[in-house]
Amino acid sequence: MQTSTSPEASHVLDRVLVLEMVRVTEAAAIAASKLIGRGDEKAADAAAVEAMRTAFNDLYMDGTVVIGEGERDEAPMLYIGEKVGNAIGKGPKIDIALDPLEGTTITAKAGPNALAVLAIAEEGCLLNAPDVYMDKIAVGPGYPAGVIDLDKSVKENVEAVARAKGVKPDEIIVCVLDRPRHADLIAQLRDLGCGVQLIPDGDVAGVIATTDEDTTIDIYMGSGGAPEGVLAAAALRCVGGQFKGRLLFRNDDERGRAHKWGIEDLNKQYDLTDLAKGDCIFAATGVTDGSLLDGVKRLRGGLVTTESVVMRASSGTVRWIKGEHRKAG
Ligand code: FBP
Repeated sequence: MQTSTSPEASHVLDRVLVLEMVRVTEAAAIAASKLIGRGDEKAADAAAVEAMRTAFNDLYMDGTVVIGEGERDEAPMLYIGEKVGNAIGKGPKIDIALDPLEGTTITAKAGPNALAVLAIAEEGCLLNAPDVYMDKIAVGPGYPAGVIDLDKSVKENVEAVARAKGVKPDEIIVCVLDRPRHADLIAQLRDLGCGVQLIPDGDVAGVIATTDEDTTIDIYMGSGGAPEGVLAAAALRCVGGQFKGRLLFRNDDERGRAHKWGIEDLNKQYDLTDLAKGDCIFAATGVTDGSLLDGVKRLRGGLVTTESVVMRASSGTVRWIKGEHRKAG
């Protein structure tokens, strides 16, 4: 087993306690939980954003948001480029990808799988992904390298995974975001006889579900947010698995956003390490109950419970953390 002193481990990240990241996602999840089922996506998101920002600003780090709530003119807090932490100019330089509330609609409707989520890495190690769609395909650990490929057809990918797993294509379960744009993908999967698990939102959890045999999901396929792609890739860097992503552009404005962040090859197929390289830490706290984590529970007497996971790429350590918060508010 690699330890935090392994050659791959980052001393910059060593200086930021892994467990501190859970405090940050817990704060966002607890704040958002007050808005579960209240039908107000914006209020839920705003509560999570504010709590996450406050928690980051308590930490000794020189942090930069590289994946955040949007560009500076669109988002008042945790915008791309915002500096966070209380040691700007002197603390460890950390790049941060965050989504204080992954699943705003889910939260507003009290549906499953909403998360507060973040990934951190050394400066320059996370792709500055523009807020456009990304075509994604992912599988969990244990498959031969290259088993999935966005340049191959849906049928070829399903057949390759089925062969590697030693089952027939009609035994493969694929998780897909339930969107009209995926009608053709879903039809192709059904023609192959695959089980298709449609999720209403939340493709970070959808991708991570491929790494957990209990979910029975073999492959994640379809398009979702590119920022969510970077977050999911950071998680897979820690627990194993394969992920391929390709940015999708609907207009020149979106292409312009990519150029602005220094992306030249608009057709590139990104691998895990193109999205999150070097050592990285991924943390998430459940907001609503889901396949990865239980959601926040507000119990009698003001007790609030949380469930979180934090993982580190260099050590491969995954910690599941149950929190009991007696003064969470
Ligand atoms: P939000 O929390 O920003 O609403 O994102 C939820 C989500 O389902 C993501 O998980 C996914 O990547 C994206 O939206 C898909 O976008 P769209 O809803 O436009 O299909």
